[in-house]
Amino acid sequence: MRALILAAGLGSRFKSQKAKVLHTILGKPMLWYVLRTLRELSIREIGVVVGHQAEEVKKVFEGEDGIFFFHQENPKGGTADAVISALDFWRDYQDYLLVINGDSPLVKSQTIKNMQRYMQLVEEYENIKLSALLLSGFLPDPTGYGRVVKDQGGNVIKIVEEKDATIEEKQIREINGGVYFFYCPHLLDVVFSIQPSPKSGELYLTEAIALMHKKGYVIRSFMTEDQAEVMGVNDRWELAIAENVIRLRILERLAKEGNTIHQPETVWIEPSVVLEGEVEIEPGVALRGNTKISKGVRIGRGSVIENSVVEEGAVIEPYSIIRDSHIKSGAIVGPFAHLRNHSVIGEGSHIGNFVEVKASEIGSHVNAKHLAYIGDAQIGDRTNIGAGVVFANYDGKQKHRSKVGQNAFIGSNSLIIAPITLGDYSYIAGGSVINKNIEEGDLAIARADLRILKGKGKEKLL
Ligand code: UD1
Ligand code: MG
Repeated sequence: MRALILAAGLGSRFKSQKAKVLHTILGKPMLWYVLRTLRELSIREIGVVVGHQAEEVKKVFEGEDGIFFFHQENPKGGTADAVISALDFWRDYQDYLLVINGDSPLVKSQTIKNMQRYMQLVEEYENIKLSALLLSGFLPDPTGYGRVVKDQGGNVIKIVEEKDATIEEKQIREINGGVYFFYCPHLLDVVFSIQPSPKSGELYLTEAIALMHKKGYVIRSFMTEDQAEVMGVNDRWELAIAENVIRLRILERLAKEGNTIHQPETVWIEPSVVLEGEVEIEPGVALRGNTKISKGVRIGRGSVIENSVVEEGAVIEPYSIIRDSHIKSGAIVGPFAHLRNHSVIGEGSHIGNFVEVKASEIGSHVNAKHLAYIGDAQIGDRTNIGAGVVFANYDGKQKHRSKVGQNAFIGSNSLIIAPITLGDYSYIAGGSVINKNIEEGDLAIARADLRILKGKGKEKLL
């Protein structure tokens, strides 16, 4: 089967510099969802009509096989003009072409399969080869959509666009979902007879239906069970609604796969995130990009995890931000921790509140429980990093790395100036400023001696 995506339009109702189909839903362009649906159907040849911001639109398909781009000269030409622009893709095709609007990201692949099955059944049992089958829905408020006009036998006579509809036609609740199967020889028969709309000057693809009907071809509509599917995304509010629908679909799938999601109305999980089961997600969590969460992990309220891996049994306490990092099994992170730039947290380690870890590799069973900055460092197993420790990794021009051995102890409020190496079992006394390497087993103390002046305190205060 071949499919054609219409993605050249301006999307003027978005009031945006950016093409409508590039606006994102859960971090992915709207168009990505349409492509995914077609891929789920194993469609190998996909035509895409591009026009407005063609180069940016093409990028959505980077690395994909079997994509053929067609340029629509006038992105205001209308949906039929878009289909004509891709004539080379379907003119000689003696089969059904699936045409799908680029702003229909909610259509499910199962529904398209059901449409195909319906066409087969009509052919088998009614002996009718449909010339077109369009996906329709029954909307309580059909405003803005093309209305499906049928005869008594249930065949489609025409589709009337909102602008051209009479008062009676506007009452019709069955609307066109922007997903069609067209039998190509019959589409070719009518597509050049489509006249520009007197209201907008555009060539409407929906006009093809009336022209086919006049030729005696049979057209049917296939009504979806899930009305959300037929929603087009024409402005930013519809984008928000579509995003919500997709978000809840993802959460429902994950919950049914055995993950607990508390207050799903507050949880954001993007489509490429993997949860392995028995994961517990508290309210307000966001999981983005290629994040993978293993079995039995709990993610605390308000945490954001992006492009990261969290291994089995780890706990992310509330309000932690984790980007591009790897948390090994049994580690505890947060509350209020910030991990970024390819940091690794070893097994059973504990990165506590107000600790920032940047581009650092933390061994296993390391404790850094409060108020520290660990940047560009490698920390050995079982080392303790006290409250307020700072790795000074930047000299104003360059970043430098630090290396700390195993079983070391860095006392609270110490400043470790990189580049530097602290050996295994090295001991840094609290409040020290360390700018030389410390060898294995040594104790370093670098702070002014304590002076006690008898009675002077009270004297100053009185
Ligand atoms: C269209 C249908 C309407 C249907 C609705 C479903 C037509 C005339 N009307 O209306 O019956 O109910 O979708 O959502 O088709 N595009 C191009 N080139 C163009 C114009 C549009 O490629 O010249 C693309 C757009 O990028 C978009 C898609 O076609 O992805 C649909 O266009 P849009 O302007 O959104 O059509 P609607 O007014 O929503
Ligand atoms: Mg639309």
